[in-house]
Amino acid sequence: NQSLTLSGKKILVTAGGTRESIDPVRFIGNRSSGKMGIAIANAAQEAGADVTLIAGQIDSSSEINSSINLLRVESTEQMAKAVEQNFDATDALIMAAAVADYTPSVTSQQKMKKSENTRSIFINFKETPDILKTFGSRKTHQLIVGFAAETQNLIDNATKKLNEKNADYIIANNVNETGVGFGSDDNQVTILQPGHEPQKWAKMSKKLVAEKIIKLISNQLLQGD
Ligand code: C5P
Repeated sequence: NQSLTLSGKKILVTAGGTRESIDPVRFIGNRSSGKMGIAIANAAQEAGADVTLIAGQIDSSSEINSSINLLRVESTEQMAKAVEQNFDATDALIMAAAVADYTPSVTSQQKMKKSENTRSIFINFKETPDILKTFGSRKTHQLIVGFAAETQNLIDNATKKLNEKNADYIIANNVNETGVGFGSDDNQVTILQPGHEPQKWAKMSKKLVAEKIIKLISNQLLQGD
């Protein structure tokens, strides 16, 4: 049955943007809508998988299938913890979330006040844990899929990520191109896999991209059975 190729498999998906707190009312975030990750979670669930979706900030217009186990998080650190709790049992980790690379070194416990004579302020940032890299290096049987949103040198940068993060696939997309990427319903991606030439897919809906990614993963996971 084509529609239930992933039955008995556990798939862990992250989606959306993280928020890193500056103080109780302010944060640093990004423009991710979560649409691509949600589409992947839905496609995996429709293929019969047992899906856990770890979501940061997402666009409320995207529907999440009701049988998906949804965990909401805010920061990169919380997302890392949620992945940690689910990683061992999972067959594939798909990191579609737009994760902050840096977080404020200190989060003020009180709302920061504007002061009269201050014309500029500085916020110090520290590195966040690289979730994909951490779990790429810890994988045993898990398939690891990452995304690379780039504004330049797409293939070079994505190839670097494939290697550095020990991923099985990197889904690369150029976020400069109009009508694709952040917030849009369409995407144009290039698939990178160790030992294979990059495969450029045509521009299509995120739903279709998600279904094709799930098909790739199903084929790979079934080979291992
Ligand atoms: O290195 P870069 O952030 O561009 O890599 C993108 C990929 O790495 C995405 O799959 C993203 O979800 C993941 N990532 C992560 N932890 C971070 C930063 C990115 O898992 N701290």
